[in-house]
Amino acid sequence: MDVSQVKAALKGLPIGELRCLEQVGSTNDEAASWVAQDAPHLALVIADEQTAGRGRSGNTWYSPAGASLAFSLVLYPRHLEPYLLPRLTALGALAVKDALSKLYNLPAQIKWPNDVLVHRQKVSGVLAEAQWDGDQVRALVLGIGINVTLASTAQIKPNPGTIQPTCVEVLLGRSADRLELLRAVLEEVICWQPRLATQDFLQAWESSLAFRGEWVQVSLGQSRGKDGLPGALEGRSPTIEEGKVIGLSQDGSLRLRTASGEIVKVSVGEMHLRPS
Ligand code: BTN
Repeated sequence: MDVSQVKAALKGLPIGELRCLEQVGSTNDEAASWVAQDAPHLALVIADEQTAGRGRSGNTWYSPAGASLAFSLVLYPRHLEPYLLPRLTALGALAVKDALSKLYNLPAQIKWPNDVLVHRQKVSGVLAEAQWDGDQVRALVLGIGINVTLASTAQIKPNPGTIQPTCVEVLLGRSADRLELLRAVLEEVICWQPRLATQDFLQAWESSLAFRGEWVQVSLGQSRGKDGLPGALEGRSPTIEEGKVIGLSQDGSLRLRTASGEIVKVSVGEMHLRPS
């Protein structure tokens, strides 16, 4: 990835500093080490290829050379109330969703909490990892992966019955400019981040939710993960919650209406469409 091309594509954006790499294990790991060496706000790590890209729940994220967008942005959210923490992951997902909609007119949606879907297929994932100072988030590494060319999905082995992968170029039926897309996503992050605590943000997130009004299953029971963001049911054994997607709560948890009519709130989990 040519650094001068990346710089030209990002001209005028308030990027703190840029690390542009041909190959890296994980841009999130690189950004986290950079935080330890005082990375500035909006420091950006981007790589042409990741050899150990990570997704949520310990999943592998594939980023073959030249095929996807893989980058991590360092943010220092100030005075963040704990109930706003889930919005950090949503910030990345909303930015990708808006960029895909505005740039390509793609009907992107957010599969709560962190995936971006188009036509119910996954095109992008977000991994937000926090560094803590006591009970305050000191720094956030917002990692975003977007499948751009067909090669980006070649290694993914989706389980039957789960969300299938797709990529921007298949969705568009033509080639896509990775750096144009990078810029569009960063513009959205920069625009939304100061508004994280607003109702506008929550509404934008809620109105982007995939599967609203549909039956879904959410597997619960993740404890605080490597990202340090809070888990829903720490210490409890995994369970499946099933219900219709109603919307979001102020704290970003997902509201479901169960078969008995009860409204339940799910704060962290993996959502799956209910098998018919
Ligand atoms: C997921 O879908 O579970 C999240 C995927 C996040 C992938 C991105 S690619 C850039 C950054 N570096 C990583 O190792 N992961 C994130």
